[in-house]
Amino acid sequence: MPTIQWTESMSVDVPALDKDHKKLIHMINDLDMASPDFLELFNEVLDYTNGHFEREEAHLEGISYPGLEGHRAQHDDFADQVARLLKEYKAQAFDAQDTRLKDFLWTWLKGHILIEDLRYAAWTRAQSGG
Ligand SMILES: [Fe+2]
Repeated sequence: MPTIQWTESMSVDVPALDKDHKKLIHMINDLDMASPDFLELFNEVLDYTNGHFEREEAHLEGISYPGLEGHRAQHDDFADQVARLLKEYKAQAFDAQDTRLKDFLWTWLKGHILIEDLRYAAWTRAQSGG
């Protein structure tokens, strides 16, 4: 099962958002596919993710980030993809060996934090006279 750890190289230079990213990574690490409460746990991760997206978008609005719309679209796309997977899961629960849901979270979050989130961090640094 893929597991990642937050490292300084993932920092977006906004302590509150770094804290969110750490917590999300932690929550996904702890997500137990074999738990009978898996769906409940998965929903907790999604709730936290949605709250994080709101905080992040508010930050991006606050700094007038020019890539905000594209960034928001990625967050929305995440919600759509998760909804589709959840629908499949509810129609027929995946067994514990089937890591589709968890793999999706990892792949998406890792790619998103490392590429898109670091992009606004770089933009912010450039603005502050870097
Ligand atoms: Fe983001």
